[in-house]
Amino acid sequence: KPRLYSGMQPSADSLQIGNYIGALMQWRDLQESYDAFFSVVDLHALTQPNDPAELREKTRRTAAQYIAAGIEPSKSTLYVQSHVRAHAELAWVLSTVTGFGEANRMTQFKDKSARYGTDATNVGLFTYPILMAADILLYQTDIVPVGDDQKQHVELTRTLAERFNARYGEAFRVPMPVIQKDTARIYDLQNPTSKMSKSAESDAGVLWLLDDPAKSAKKVMRAVTDSEGVVRYDREAKPGVSNLLVIYAALTGRQIPSIEDEYAGRGYGDFKKGLAEIVVSEFGPVRERALKLLDDPAELDRVLAANAARADEVADRTLNDVYDKLGLLRRV
Ligand code: TYM
Repeated sequence: KPRLYSGMQPSADSLQIGNYIGALMQWRDLQESYDAFFSVVDLHALTQPNDPAELREKTRRTAAQYIAAGIEPSKSTLYVQSHVRAHAELAWVLSTVTGFGEANRMTQFKDKSARYGTDATNVGLFTYPILMAADILLYQTDIVPVGDDQKQHVELTRTLAERFNARYGEAFRVPMPVIQKDTARIYDLQNPTSKMSKSAESDAGVLWLLDDPAKSAKKVMRAVTDSEGVVRYDREAKPGVSNLLVIYAALTGRQIPSIEDEYAGRGYGDFKKGLAEIVVSEFGPVRERALKLLDDPAELDRVLAANAARADEVADRTLNDVYDKLGLLRRV
């Protein structure tokens, strides 16, 4: 089977539905036909300030949400990034084949350093895409399903793999990004031209997977729309309604025109009520499964450890080959 790799940061107590629609739903489907590796990228999360006890908890919660959303740890390798030492080691190696200017062009870094200033920005944030490249390349990955905000990082990963292979000999498979076009970006419900994010300033525009479903329903009812009153997809003129249509279509598997037809001649109130019901019925069970898994953290930790052992094997093979190709002396 071809190999798939993807991951998410444990940067909040709950995932938001952009993570669910933009990533998890694809992961769940793709795990059937790929040898899939899904990590909780806790080392990446260190680029933001963290309370240690909270980081541990967020890491478990993220893993529990993967499983609750349908990732099966018996089928896919679901593990915690820091459990596999090779990630940090390969990241160091890859940093030596990355140009400074090349890393400096990553838009996510540029945005963050512009927002907080370079003195308040840590070097980890700068080298973040190199660690991400290490994640992907360790597993000889064929495809990387992500939302479009991660596309540039996957492109860098390809460049680094090709460069290393050309310089030192074939060590890496060159991966392809896979981006689900219509759901690549879910927007904030209150601010429908900026993407929904775990780090959004206001909570009102973010739907959390683990929130009380009644609360999520209320957020849908209060989502920003427009004054036209027609349920119609038009990204430019009607970003709020279009975003709700995309969410509606993604969660039901329906096409947008069929939803537009259903709500023709009815107001936004009806449409939002329909979507709120879908959100409650989709996320209610996911939330219950996740909370149940979190009731037994010891069992969850055991599952993660077994999966990390599987990941270790594959990752070590690549890293040993890389060290040999580089001419690092083997410890006998
Ligand atoms: P992260 O944790 O920010 O997001 C996880 C996944 O969710 C997608 N996503 C969205 N999709 C649609 N609409 C949104 N509003 C939205 N918000 C987030 C992201 O595109 C991503 O697919 N650097 C990565 C984590 C990572 C990784 C990797 C991914 C580390 N190593 C290796 C793939 C392969 C990140 O911060 O994702």
